[in-house]
Order: sequence, then C-alpha cells, then structure tokens
Amino acid sequence: MITLGIETSCDETSVGLVKGKRVLANIVSSQIGHTKFGGVVPEIAARNHIKVILPLMRLALEVAGLKLNDIDLVAATRGPGLLGSLLTGLAFAKSLAIGLNKPFIGVNHLEGHIYGLFFNRKAPAPPYLVMIVSGGHTEIVLIEKEFKYRTLGRTLDDACGEAFDKVAKMLGLPYPGGPYIEKYAKEGNPGKIKFPVPKPKGFNFSYAGLKTAVLYYIRERKTYNINDVAASFQESALDHLVQVAKRVVDYTKARTLGIVGGVSINNRLKQKFRELAEAHNLELFVPEPQFCTDNGAMIALAGSKRFKTFGPSDLGMDGVAREDLEKIQQ
Ligand code: KG4
Ligand code: ZN
Repeated sequence: MITLGIETSCDETSVGLVKGKRVLANIVSSQIGHTKFGGVVPEIAARNHIKVILPLMRLALEVAGLKLNDIDLVAATRGPGLLGSLLTGLAFAKSLAIGLNKPFIGVNHLEGHIYGLFFNRKAPAPPYLVMIVSGGHTEIVLIEKEFKYRTLGRTLDDACGEAFDKVAKMLGLPYPGGPYIEKYAKEGNPGKIKFPVPKPKGFNFSYAGLKTAVLYYIRERKTYNINDVAASFQESALDHLVQVAKRVVDYTKARTLGIVGGVSINNRLKQKFRELAEAHNLELFVPEPQFCTDNGAMIALAGSKRFKTFGPSDLGMDGVAREDLEKIQQ
C-alpha cells in the first residue's frame, strides 16, 4: 500500500510517500519568510503552504517514480498545530482523495512524530516510553499498546524547542534557533555559567525559569561569550529532559525509551540520553535526523498504521489546534 503523507502543522510544508515502512520520497520545504519576525507568523505560514504544496507533491511523485493513481491512501496532519496551516493541508488532502477516489485519513501530529521511530531497522515494542521534544510540545508518554497512550508529564509553560528558539532570539540568532544554539554551543564551555536546571513537580517540564535566567544574564552584561551562553543554556535544558526521563524510568520500570520531535536531532541530547541508557540498561530509540523534525513521511506511516486498524477518517474531519494523544479522534 502506498500512502501519501502531508504535513502542514507549522512552518514546514512536507510531502512524503511510503510503502510499508519504506520511504519512497520525503520532501520538506522550510519557510524562511518568518526569520525577520523572529518566529512563525500564522497567516504567512498558511499562505506559504498553499503556494508550495502542489509543486512539492509533484516533486515527491517524481522522486518516487510514481503517478498520482499509484497512491492508495492520502494522510494529512489534522492537529495539533496552527489552525490556518492545518486547514490548507487537510483541504488539499481531502480534495486529492476525492479526485482519486481513494481513502483519506487525518493524523495526530504527535503520533506522527512517534512513528518517526518506526523507520529505524529495529522499532520499539509496547510497552515503552516516548519523550516528545519539539517546538510546540514537551511531554513524556507511556505507550501501553499500539495507539494506547498515557501522558505522564508535560510542560507547564514553554516547550523545549521553544526555549531554544527564544534564547537564540535573545542572542540575535535567526529563527528557528535550535540548530544555531547547538552550533555555537559546540565552541562553548557548558560549565561556564550555572543556569538553573528546572525542577517542577512530578514528571512535568518547565522552561520559563531557565529562559528568564538567560535573559537576566544577558541583560546584566555589556559583553558576554555567546558560545558559553549557548553551551550552558543547552546543558541545563537537556539535563532537565534527562532528569525527568530518569524519574519516569525509575517509576515505571520501563526498559525502552524513545526520544522524538525536532529537538531529538540535537547531538548533545543524543549523547546525554545514550549515557542515561547505558547507566540504566535502557534500550534507546531516536529517529534518523530526517525523521526528527517535521516531515510528511512520518505522517504517511502513522496514517497507514491507523488506517489498517481503524479504517478511513470522515471527509468532514476538522483541523484541531490541540489534541491530546490520549484522546485522538478519527
Ligand atoms: O518537531 P519540529 O520540527 O516542529 C514542531 O512540531 O514543533 O520541532 C522544531 C523545533 C524548533 O523549536 C527547533 O528550534 C528545534 O526543534 N530544533 C532543535 C535543533 N534542530 C531543531 N533544537 C535543538 N537542537 C537542534 N539541533
Ligand atoms: Zn513536530
């Protein structure tokens, strides 16, 4: 079965084509029009998706060596995300499905990120933990069995990637700032500045305090070493993730941990989680880099899995700005 996956939840427009777990094409177009605003402008994002989605789909078909009629299922992200952006992808996907007389399925974006793990040669088997660390979400979830999620903790304020983006902005670096923080951090000393490692209650996350500590540090100084600020911030931000993961592992006695979402591409993150995994005899799963950040292939794979179990979505399906993994509607 060949599934076309469309991802337009934020500022990446992406079209993926998968056959089983084999990726035939995965084309991502990252919008650069937001850089001068230092963050995503929802209306600009939606308009850009409309402009590029059709050429991207044609390119994906060409890369895969397929024709429109070869598509068996059309999947698109229905949320969570920016509503205007989601609606462009959904409307496109539904129209395509009608035109081709093929089924349509709406996909939860977070479930899409989780399925990014399944392109690996070996995939995790339930029960397992997944930490989702992206620009919009930071949460830790227990996957009791396929499609059955229990959210154990989530951010009380900013998402991890959002904190990377905001600190990058304070340092005068372009949006999205995560990759720039990682780049500058490589040249810096992570022990130079003692930014606090957040410690909210339970298995929750919090990045507002750390972000403010960086802001005060920068404000109070005429000059500072940008590499050291980036490295010290990154260290505290990632230590927070590792500490929450360790507490959840101790509590659940889980043996398998996946890390997904845009921030999981970060090499220092992978290094720190590898150390945690070794110390606690955990099996660690991280997607390949191209499946960490938003992409259509992960939506296609999640859509095809859901379709096999639950069948197609209704063509009247709406986009949703928020949708809990525990309460996915189809
Ligand atoms: O999953 P994603 O592509 O989109 C959302 O669903 O939000 O994640 C994007 C986030 C952004 O905040 C971006 O700055 C962050 O992932 N990111 C990184 C890196 N590359 C992307 N954060 C830290 N280090 C990176 N190398
Ligand atoms: Zn995402």
